Amino acid sequence: MDNNIIEGKAIGKIILIGEHSVVYGQPAIAIPFLKAQIKASITKSTSKTKLDAYSFNGLLTDASSNLLGLTTVIKKVLEDFNQTPFGFDIKIESSIPAERGMGSSAAVSAATVRALYKFFNVALDNQKLTDLVNFSEKIYHGNPSGIDTAIVVNEKPLYYIKNQALLEFDYHLDAFLIVTDTGEKGNTKLAVTNVKSFIDNNVSLGNQIIKDLGNLTEQAQKVILKNNAKSLGDIMNQAQNLLSQLGVSNTMIDNLNKVAIENNALGSKLTGGGLGGCIISLCKSKKDAELISRKLLANGAKGTWIMDMRKEKRD
Ligand code: PMV
Repeated sequence: MDNNIIEGKAIGKIILIGEHSVVYGQPAIAIPFLKAQIKASITKSTSKTKLDAYSFNGLLTDASSNLLGLTTVIKKVLEDFNQTPFGFDIKIESSIPAERGMGSSAAVSAATVRALYKFFNVALDNQKLTDLVNFSEKIYHGNPSGIDTAIVVNEKPLYYIKNQALLEFDYHLDAFLIVTDTGEKGNTKLAVTNVKSFIDNNVSLGNQIIKDLGNLTEQAQKVILKNNAKSLGDIMNQAQNLLSQLGVSNTMIDNLNKVAIENNALGSKLTGGGLGGCIISLCKSKKDAELISRKLLANGAKGTWIMDMRKEKRD
C-alpha cells in the first residue's frame, strides 16, 4: 500500500433465506460473500473532497442521489470529527456491481467509514461502525432490518433476528452454492415498499406468507446443521415460491431458477431484495455447479460465482 493512501475494506453478503420476512421480525440466515470486495481509498489533496464511486466522479457535494447514503454518512463522520470535506479525496473500488442484493451499499459505507477513521486516526469499534452503516442504510432503504450491516461489520455467518443479539451460525454443508448475477439491477427500497403494500392490502395472506418464510428459515437452520443439502434445496424452492407471491421475483429470476433446477440444482431462489439482482442455486457437487453455471450464462445470466459450502474449503 502506498504510504499516502489510506484504505478501508469490506465484504458483501448473501442471504441464504429469510429476506423480506426479516424486516418483520422473522429470522434470516446470511453468510459473508468474500468474492465481493469493496475498497475505499483516501488520498490527501489540497482542495475540496472529490468522490470517485461507481459511475460518479466529481465533487462530494455534487454526488448523484443514488450515492446519498454514502455521502450522508461521510458528512456525518466529518461533522463528528469537526472536519470539513476538504483536503482529501475518496475512491471506491468494487469487485461486484451495485444493486445486486449482495449488500454492496452497506459494504461501501463500511469500507469508507473504516478508511475515514484510519485517515483521522480515530479508533473504531464494531458498535460505532454498525450505527454508522445502519444510518446510511436507512437513507438507501428506508426500513432496513440491519442484516446487511450485521454481516458486513462482523464478517461471520449469522442466524439473524432484527433487534436481537447476533447469533453466529457456523456450518459445514457438503454442497456448492452458485451466486448468479441476473444482470438486472435490483431495487431493495422498492421491493421492501411493495411487500409492505402487499401485506397492507392482503393482511391475512401477507402475514401468513411472512410467518411461513420465518418457519422455512427455522427449518433451514435445522437441516443445515444436519448437513442435509437436499432438504435445504427443497426449502429454498418453497421460499422462492413465497417471495414470488409477495411480488419480488421477476421473469429473469424465474427463468434462471428454472434453468438451474432443470439442470440438477437442489434448489434455487432469489437473494436479497429481488426485482432483479442475484439468485442462488444449491448443488451437490462442483461438477454440477460448473455445468449449471454454464447453462445459466448461456441463458442470459451476466456472471456467476461458485462457493464451496464445506467449512474447511470456504473462501
Ligand atoms: O438487497 P439487499 O442486499 O440490500 O438485501 C435486502 C434484504 C431485505 O430483507 C429485503 C431488506 C432488509 O433490510 O432486510
